[in-house]
Amino acid sequence: MSCPADRSFCELVVALSTILDTEEETKLYHAWRVALVARELAQQVLPEQATRVFYAGLLHDIGAMGLDDHIVHQVLRPGARLNPEIIAHPARGAAMVAPLPGLGEEAAAMIRDHHERWDGSGYPRGLQGGAIVPGALLLGLADIFDLTVRTHPDRPWSQVRQAMTETAAGTFPPELLTSFNAIMAGPLYPEVATNVALELKMFQIILDLPPVNFQVAEPMKITIDLFARIIDAKHAYTAGHSRRVASYAMKLACGMGWNEAAVQRLEIAALLHDFGKIAVPRAILDKPGRLDDRELKVVHQHPQRTIDLLNSISSLKDIAQIAGLHHERYDGGGYPYGLHDGDIPPGARIIAVADAFDAMTSPRPYQPTRTPQEALAVLARGSGTQFDPQVVAVAGSVLT
Ligand SMILES: [Fe+2]
Ligand SMILES: [Fe+2]
Ligand SMILES: [Fe+2]
Ligand SMILES: [Fe+2]
Repeated sequence: MSCPADRSFCELVVALSTILDTEEETKLYHAWRVALVARELAQQVLPEQATRVFYAGLLHDIGAMGLDDHIVHQVLRPGARLNPEIIAHPARGAAMVAPLPGLGEEAAAMIRDHHERWDGSGYPRGLQGGAIVPGALLLGLADIFDLTVRTHPDRPWSQVRQAMTETAAGTFPPELLTSFNAIMAGPLYPEVATNVALELKMFQIILDLPPVNFQVAEPMKITIDLFARIIDAKHAYTAGHSRRVASYAMKLACGMGWNEAAVQRLEIAALLHDFGKIAVPRAILDKPGRLDDRELKVVHQHPQRTIDLLNSISSLKDIAQIAGLHHERYDGGGYPYGLHDGDIPPGARIIAVADAFDAMTSPRPYQPTRTPQEALAVLARGSGTQFDPQVVAVAGSVLT
């Protein structure tokens, strides 16, 4: 790693792929396995693209983020190829990844073509042979490998190879299959077949990955802004939520006399405060009626997930608590820890007010939209119980 931005960028993308692959209590590791396997293959057959292939692998199914169920379950069901959301996920994912600094368009093209097949049998465009971006074929092969190995990670490579031959023969260039079989027959297979081995390998890669040539002044800022939009994109009604919460939080902090550096850290914390919500299924967050106990438990996990994710990123550890404690209440009745007033970081108390103000003033399926004046009145009623009175005191002058 040449500079801290590279390390942080890598950790941030790994964190996003982790949360995309989290289902209630389970980590699926689909994107990690695809990224690691495709990168190993790229080092043999497409070495100059190996780092881009790795990042494209981590994010290859990001366009499937809003489906009711994770795509690894959906693609194996009969009729999956008729589901318009599945057909659309490569192009949707490519559009989401394209703005990423230093990787954007090439990684996006790999994602766009990752279900195209050499013989023209893939989707969405039915491209053939050389019309497919080479990195995409590597992702496609790694994708099939994960789907084959994930249910029986204890099988020897020879059995997995047999099962893969039935699916992949004819749909990938023969020389690519030869290279793939050669690396799997070596030491790679045991390193990527089980989730435990995969975790170890991922931590090594994070340390060793060559730098990305970002070609922009503030790659982390651009990446975090993009991630905020990705967080909000999962649910139709949260469009723009993270950006608005960040702007309200900054106004509140400025109104309270915070210095510029502290306001900037708060902005990042606010942009990522709902990072953990990516793991909440759309069926739960979009449910118009009351949530049952299990659904409520899943929703209430999101702040802790935000804390865990930000703690996994070296340069964002200091804002993990600020971002993740936005559902604590001043009177101790919040979650996940039930902290009281002074035990809640000041930045989290600000984000709590900004978050509530935006939730009240934006259209939501479960409540009427309030005017800013009405929302301020609700904040005032919650002053000293739900909210920090010092934050509410400045809200009236800065949030209108
Ligand atoms: Fe996919
Ligand atoms: Fe996939
Ligand atoms: Fe939240
Ligand atoms: Fe929020």
